Amino acid sequence: MAKQILVANWKNHPDSLRATNALLAGISRKRALYKQISLYIAPSPVYFESVSKKIAGFSNLASQDFPSVLEGTHTGIVTLDILKSFGVKLAIIGHSEMRALGETSKEVSKKVKLALKSGIVPVLCVGERIRDEEGEYLGVLRQEIKLSLEDLKKGDDVHKLMIAYEPVWAVGKKSKDAVSPDDLAQAVIFIRKILTDMFGRDTAEKITILYGGSVNPKNIKSLASGTGIKGFLVGRASLDAKQLEEMVKELTT
Ligand code: PGA
Repeated sequence: MAKQILVANWKNHPDSLRATNALLAGISRKRALYKQISLYIAPSPVYFESVSKKIAGFSNLASQDFPSVLEGTHTGIVTLDILKSFGVKLAIIGHSEMRALGETSKEVSKKVKLALKSGIVPVLCVGERIRDEEGEYLGVLRQEIKLSLEDLKKGDDVHKLMIAYEPVWAVGKKSKDAVSPDDLAQAVIFIRKILTDMFGRDTAEKITILYGGSVNPKNIKSLASGTGIKGFLVGRASLDAKQLEEMVKELTT
């Protein structure tokens, strides 16, 4: 069976290199455990050098975002080439916190295409802001997925894509606000249906679906069982060495 995937999205934390190194020291004590899954750590790029050295052999470096420009000279931008030179293997794209700052699905779609072209695994984040009882959120989700993938053509290595279903209402909340396993299973079927309509069944079945939003050691196992997801995008709980260890233990035992 394929290893479970856990992408640790550290956002703008920890707030210093010193605190980052302390966290890494705690995490690397459990390197044998982390080798049992596919662990990706997405720190702030300013910590890349330190993180990449300390996680070598048990985790890969991931990026939280990247700009949709490849060529030319740009002030204030960390391009995909620079990220790749540090060994970045995977990039989070279209996170709701980036969309809240104005990133559009059109830009997201360009980035997904660029990542695939550059040999970086794109983790496309999608998710409804609110979940209404009438089910209108499903139309919102469908539209977001379609627009966020509109630049992709068959043959663009679409099967390498990962989708992180991250309902916005569940991100950064307490554990009771994470999606329920039943609702997650339904969402995965719905997303896979949209992908089938867009890219055909064979490709759609190969696309990995992850879940993100208030994942923690208490809920990770039930969210992983029978829901059709292959892993997680984790924010807060991945910034605590003990909680990270507990989550991975839950996934591997
Ligand atoms: P959270 O964040 O685990 O803190 O809810 C998840 C995310 O933003 O990817």
